[in-house]
Amino acid sequence: MAEKKTFYITTPIYYPSASLHIGHAYSTVATDAIARYQRQRGVETFFLTGSDEHGQKIERKAKDAGVTPQAYVDKIVAGFKDLWKLLDISYDGFIRTTDEHHVKAVQKMFKKLYDQGDIYKSKYTGHYCTPCESFWLDRQIEEAGGACPDCGGKLELVEEESYFFRLSKYADRLIQYIKDNPTFIQPVSRTNEMLQNFLLPGLEDLCVSRTSFTWGIPVDFDEKHVVYVWLDALSNYITALGWGSDDDSLYRKFWPADVHIVGKEIVRFHTIIWPIMLMALGEPLPRQVFGHGWLVLDGGKMSKSKGNVVDPVQLCARYGVDAIRYFLLREVPFGSDGTFSNEALIARINTDLANDLGNLLSRTVAMIDKYFGGVLPAHGAVADEDTALIELASVLPAKVDAQMSELHIPDALAEIWKLVGACNKYIDVTAPWTLAKSEAGQERLKTVLYNLAESLRIVAILLIPYLTSTPAKMFAQLGVAKEQTAYESLAWGGSVPGSTVHKGEALFPRIDAEAELAFFAAEVEQTKAASAPAAETAPAADTTPAAPVAQAAPIAPAKHAHGEEETPAEIEYDDFAKIDLRLAKVIACEEIKKSKKLLKLTLEVGAETRTVVSGIKQWYTPDDLIGKTVVLVANLKPVTLCGVESHGMILCASDAEDTNLSALTTLAEMESGFKVR
Ligand code: MSP
Repeated sequence: MAEKKTFYITTPIYYPSASLHIGHAYSTVATDAIARYQRQRGVETFFLTGSDEHGQKIERKAKDAGVTPQAYVDKIVAGFKDLWKLLDISYDGFIRTTDEHHVKAVQKMFKKLYDQGDIYKSKYTGHYCTPCESFWLDRQIEEAGGACPDCGGKLELVEEESYFFRLSKYADRLIQYIKDNPTFIQPVSRTNEMLQNFLLPGLEDLCVSRTSFTWGIPVDFDEKHVVYVWLDALSNYITALGWGSDDDSLYRKFWPADVHIVGKEIVRFHTIIWPIMLMALGEPLPRQVFGHGWLVLDGGKMSKSKGNVVDPVQLCARYGVDAIRYFLLREVPFGSDGTFSNEALIARINTDLANDLGNLLSRTVAMIDKYFGGVLPAHGAVADEDTALIELASVLPAKVDAQMSELHIPDALAEIWKLVGACNKYIDVTAPWTLAKSEAGQERLKTVLYNLAESLRIVAILLIPYLTSTPAKMFAQLGVAKEQTAYESLAWGGSVPGSTVHKGEALFPRIDAEAELAFFAAEVEQTKAASAPAAETAPAADTTPAAPVAQAAPIAPAKHAHGEEETPAEIEYDDFAKIDLRLAKVIACEEIKKSKKLLKLTLEVGAETRTVVSGIKQWYTPDDLIGKTVVLVANLKPVTLCGVESHGMILCASDAEDTNLSALTTLAEMESGFKVR
C-alpha cells in the first residue's frame, strides 16, 4: 500500500468565555509542533484550530457585559488569533462555530440523524438552579452537598422538552471498535478509563438540544430548540473541511483525522460521543484521540475564575517565544500532568537553552572565527571520538522519528539534546584551544570544528518543528546555505567547507535566576496588595509584569474578558454582618517607595490607630487622602505587604477596567469609628 501522504491534526476548539492562558497554549503549541514535524517530512498537512462559541455561559457573560453574544465572542476570538500569531502557530484552518457554513452543516446533520431515528424528542428531567439557569447532574450535586455547585442555592426538579441522541444504540459497536483499534485512544491508560468508567457500565442517550437559552444553532425544524454544545462543537472537525457543504474536497482529502489532540477531561467526549456521531452519519472514525495532561500550578488547576492563570503573552514578552515553546514542549511528558513554575521555566532556559545549546553555538562560531578567520575548514582524518559523534548525529533523525511516532514530544527533544550534550563533551575531550597552540594540531583542529558545526546544523534542522526562530538564527551564525537547511540534507557531511560563519547574539541570554525570582516574589506581593481583599480594591489590570508569575494561590477576583467582575452569589444578611465596616480618618499617609502601587495609610478608627496598606497610588497622592474619612473593613486578618503590616482594607469604587477609582466616604462629616451597615 502506498504511504499516506496527508495528515490531519486538530486542537480542541476553545471557549471564548475569557482570554486563553498557558494551559491552552500548551495544547496548541504541542499540536503545532506535530503539524510542523509532518510538514517537514513532506506530508501534506492540515492543522485545524478554532473556537467553540455557543452556549448559555457565553450568552450570560455577554449579557453581563451589555453586548450581544456575537460581539462578545468576536472580541475574544480576535485575541485567540493574536495569541496564535505570537506563538507562531501554523494552523491551516480556524473554525468558529458561528461560521455560517458550520451552522448550516450542523443543522443538516441534526436533521439527518432525526430523520433516520437516531435523534428523538423526549423530556429532560433534571435538577435546575434558576439563578444560574443550569441543570446539574446527581454526582455534581452530591459533591456540592445537595446544593447548586455554582452558587450553593436551592435546586428544583424541572422537566424540559429536549431532543436526545441514541448513544446507547451504538455502544456495542464502539466497544468493539476500541478493542480492535488499540491505538485509537492514547495514552493507552485512557482506553481502560473510557471502557471501565463509561462504556462498559452502559451509555445513556445524550440530550442534544435546549430550550432554556437561545445562543446556539437553531434546530431548523423546531426553532424553539438550539443544538446543545457537544454535538455542535465536535462536528467542527468535519464541517471545517466542508462536510455537508457544496465543496467537500478538503473533507475527501483529509478525513479521517490522524489525531485529535485534546486535554484529558474531554477525552470522553471525543472517544464516545464523537465516534458514535460519525458511526450514525456513516462516516469513518478518526484514527486517534490523544489526551494530554494538564499544566497545573502548585495550588492546582489553572482557571480564570480562580484568578490563578499564567498569561502566555507576558511570558513571551519576557523570555521570547522559542523559550516558551521549548518549555511547553519539553518540560512535561506528553500525556501526563505537569507543574508550571517560574523556577522550572528559568531552569530550562538557563540549562538547556542558554548553557547547552546557546553556548555550544557561540563557542563553535567563535573558535572558527578565531582560528580560521571565520571560514569553515574542511575535515581531515576521522579519529575515534569523531566516529562516536558522527554515529550519534547519523542515527538521531530515526530516534526522533521513533519518539514522534508515539507523540512523545519531550522525548524527541531529549534525543536532540543528547547530541548537544555530546558536542559539549567533545569540546572538553578534544580541547580545541590546545590543538590551536601547535602546528601539529592544526589538521585535527579543522576536523573538530567541522564536526561541531556539522552537528549543530543537524540539530538546527531537527529543531525546526519545535522552535520557530532559533533554527534560522543558528543557520545564519553557522553560515549554512538554504539547501543545507532542508530535511532532505540531514545526512552527515552537508556543511560546506569554505562557508563563512557570523558571530551573532546569544541565542538565549542567561537569566539571573535569583534576581528574577526575587523580582517575581516582590511583584506577587504587590499584586496581592492590589487585588486581594486583604488590602484594597486596586486593579488586576495593573499587574504587569507580575502576571507571568505562577501564583500559588488564587489572588485576583474573577474577571470577565471585558474586565467586569463576576457577580457573586446571593448571601444571607448574616454573611454580610460578619464584616465589620467602620469609618476611619486618614491621619497620615506616605508612599511605599519600593512599590509602584502601594500607599501606607495611618487611620484613626475611634480611639484606635491602624495601619493599612492600599494599592491606590495610581489614583491618589498622600495629600489627597490626609484628613479624609474613608470606609474600612476593620476585621480583616492582618497581612504584611512590602514589609508593612496592613490591618484592614479601605473600600473603593471603580469601573470594570479600573480606569476610574474613588475611595468611599460619607455624605455628611461623621466621626471615625462609626459603624457602616
Ligand atoms: N470547547 C471545549 C472543547 C471542544 S472540542 C470539540 C473546551 N474548551 S476549553 O477552552 O475549556 O478547553 C480547551 C482545551 O484546553 C481542553 O483540551 C483543555 O484540556 C485545555 N486546557 C485548559 N486548561 C489547561 C491546562 N491548565 N493545561 C493543559 N490543558 C488545558 O473544553
